[in-house]
Amino acid sequence: MFDLLISGGTVVSPMGTGGADVGIRGGKIAAIGSLSGAPAAETYGARGLHVLPGVIDTQVHFREPGNEHKEDLESGSRGAVLGGVTAVFEMPNTHPPTTTRLALNDKLARARGRMHCDYAFFVGATPQNIGALGELERAPGVAGVKAFLGSSTGTLLLDEDEAILGALRGGHRRMAVHSEDEARLRERKTLAESGKPQTHPVWRDVETARRSTERVLALARRAGRRLHVLHVTTAEELPLLAGARDIATAETTPQHLTLAAPECYERLGTYAQMNPPIRDATHRDALWRAVREGLIDVIGSDHAPHTRAEKDKTYPETPSGMPGVQTLVTILLDHVNAGRLSLSRFVDLTSEGAARIYGIAAKGRIVEGYDADFTVVDLQAKRHIENSWIASKSGWTPFDGMETTGWPVATIIRGQIVMRDGAVVLPGRGAPVRFLETLAPVT
Ligand code: DOR
Repeated sequence: MFDLLISGGTVVSPMGTGGADVGIRGGKIAAIGSLSGAPAAETYGARGLHVLPGVIDTQVHFREPGNEHKEDLESGSRGAVLGGVTAVFEMPNTHPPTTTRLALNDKLARARGRMHCDYAFFVGATPQNIGALGELERAPGVAGVKAFLGSSTGTLLLDEDEAILGALRGGHRRMAVHSEDEARLRERKTLAESGKPQTHPVWRDVETARRSTERVLALARRAGRRLHVLHVTTAEELPLLAGARDIATAETTPQHLTLAAPECYERLGTYAQMNPPIRDATHRDALWRAVREGLIDVIGSDHAPHTRAEKDKTYPETPSGMPGVQTLVTILLDHVNAGRLSLSRFVDLTSEGAARIYGIAAKGRIVEGYDADFTVVDLQAKRHIENSWIASKSGWTPFDGMETTGWPVATIIRGQIVMRDGAVVLPGRGAPVRFLETLAPVT
């Protein structure tokens, strides 16, 4: 007897892609195969649909506590499940930032009973908390340590060699970095011209990213520490990453694979402004090559909501970032349909890759015994992305008006259908993601 039977879908699993039913019991995958006729409390008919492992968005900013007018854990995670995302890793640049045990416990308490998807939180590295990071990164519900090597939204910054080395030496799990060189950002700030968001990638140029990535890779090698370079945006960083495959993994974002300068700044103005910036098509093409060749391990949305009022100020007073957790799946499926990405590579980049690089316990694949997390998609569905669909408090998306082919139709988390046909059908029952390196002993 199953709690839920997903029947008749095309399942993407380590066995390949093919027709199969999936039986779920106690929130876990209990059987995969031909299960028609098996008794089940509930059946989800997936004929004509693809059943993918639950999509894990490993980079979102949900703004709670401190900036709940832009987003909170409830609204951000509602966007996630509407967009087919089953788990998110949330960034520490909130107010206060997630840099202490107190701030972490506060976030975990706020998440309980309110988040619609599963979650983990990053702990921010600062010069003041270096000594505590090794312990903080082992707390349940923590995805790892994140360091901003160049300043972006919020106050977090770790830009001195000694401090970066201290953070790298002070822990063991893979450390995530925002890689832009702070000294160069300061030197070049005057190149950000008033009212001209197209100068954002001139100020925060290719060399700002390249130099920082070169430096942090060298520091990580000295420290013998695993690294994850978030939102890689330049062709120039790719050979550096290729030379450090033993210690470093890399992420890019749907927006860096979809938008390009100068067109995005002409059309979207400050709504295309983010850090590191959207660059020209030569970088976008290089990122696609890196995605196809396997150099990019994971795609995260860097969901970074800001209100229209904030975005409507005059550049560079405008904040950097754009919402993305709700559009990640359909944007990438559109690329699948356009032949730029295979479906199995999509799964590798959004589920298996996340599990592999962060050591997630029992998520990321459709395998017996794993959590029953699924992103069910209709690869043929064609619709326009619209601002009115966006659950984020920010209420907009840079992809407004774009027609995409391939849409999520159900989000299933630990065996519970949370989103169905575009509606959230269960109250928030998200739980902390579990990691191999922080599993609590059974007492
Ligand atoms: O554009 C960005 N926005 N990049 C970041 O690194 C932070 C993010 C935010 O939190 O707004």
